[in-house]
Amino acid sequence: MATDQTATTRADDVGSVMSVRDLVIQYKRAKGGPLTAVDGVGFDVNGGEIVGIVGESGSGKSTVGLVLAGFLEASSGSLTFDGRTIDSWSGTGTSGRDGVQMIFQDSTTALNPRMRVAACVAEAIAGGGSIGKEHLAQATVYLDRVGLGPEFARRKPRELSGGQRQRVAIARALAARPRVLVCDESVSALDVSARAKILNLLIRIRQEEGIAMVFISHDLAVVSQLVDRVLVMCKGEILEEGPVASVIDSPQRSYTQQLLAAIPRLERTPASMHGTSPASQIQPKGELK
Ligand SMILES: Nc1ncnc2c1ncn2[C@@H]1O[C@H](COP(=O)(O)OP(=O)(O)OP(=O)(O)O)[C@@H](O)[C@H]1O
Ligand SMILES: [Mg+2]
Repeated sequence: MATDQTATTRADDVGSVMSVRDLVIQYKRAKGGPLTAVDGVGFDVNGGEIVGIVGESGSGKSTVGLVLAGFLEASSGSLTFDGRTIDSWSGTGTSGRDGVQMIFQDSTTALNPRMRVAACVAEAIAGGGSIGKEHLAQATVYLDRVGLGPEFARRKPRELSGGQRQRVAIARALAARPRVLVCDESVSALDVSARAKILNLLIRIRQEEGIAMVFISHDLAVVSQLVDRVLVMCKGEILEEGPVASVIDSPQRSYTQQLLAAIPRLERTPASMHGTSPASQIQPKGELK
């Protein structure tokens, strides 16, 4: 696979860790012309910022995430990452673009079923080299950070709950020391309690390490609890964007209003109540074990 190459830093990208412009992504189809899944999308992700992408099923959210993480090539557009214009859409390996990690809805496929949990994480630390004792020792530190004690280190992924597997996936992603974490429906399969724990964990990671995140979800209720800024996608385009509080409290487009109307009443919390720390609204708080 091709290696990312550098060009000059754009003056208007100061503060931005990642930015895309005029992104067009088409899928080939067996019959008819190509399907345009993403059509002229552009946005920035600033250092330490959590950007949400919401929209109905099929609106192109995952497609954007896959391109950001280097798993899919765009048809046209540009991507700037860490001050460099990226010439190659492909990442450099099976784990995608260097400096970007992606966490999917179901981490089962992301974790090697034959490897023990500590080795799954140590593999990311070793960066493709052979796994040594020191990598395994460091892996337990990352596992501890996501609330999994030493008793989990020797288990296989199938011996974990969905929430625990998701935490291993996050530990593995963190171990690769990314600048940007792309989460695609990463909490959608979890029950309310496991979901709250993972969301709190993501917030803690952002606070402690300043890792920027792109958080993709069809669920505006979840997004409202976590993100700073939200992009609303519809049919491959960004229809509306802004700070999460203003988009949720006063959506400008009827499409966004409909997405909001779909949120069950009990789950709704006015974003304006969140203040500068939406995380504080998430229950249960803090504890991870
Ligand atoms: N590999 C593919 N080949 C062809 N078309 C695809 C492929 N992946 C996605 N699509 C199409 O691209 C469009 C956008 O899909 P995408 O998966 O990005 O949507 P999404 O917003 O993530 O939806 P969801 O909320 O259901 O996950 C859809 O019309 C989908 O059918
Ligand atoms: Mg998707």
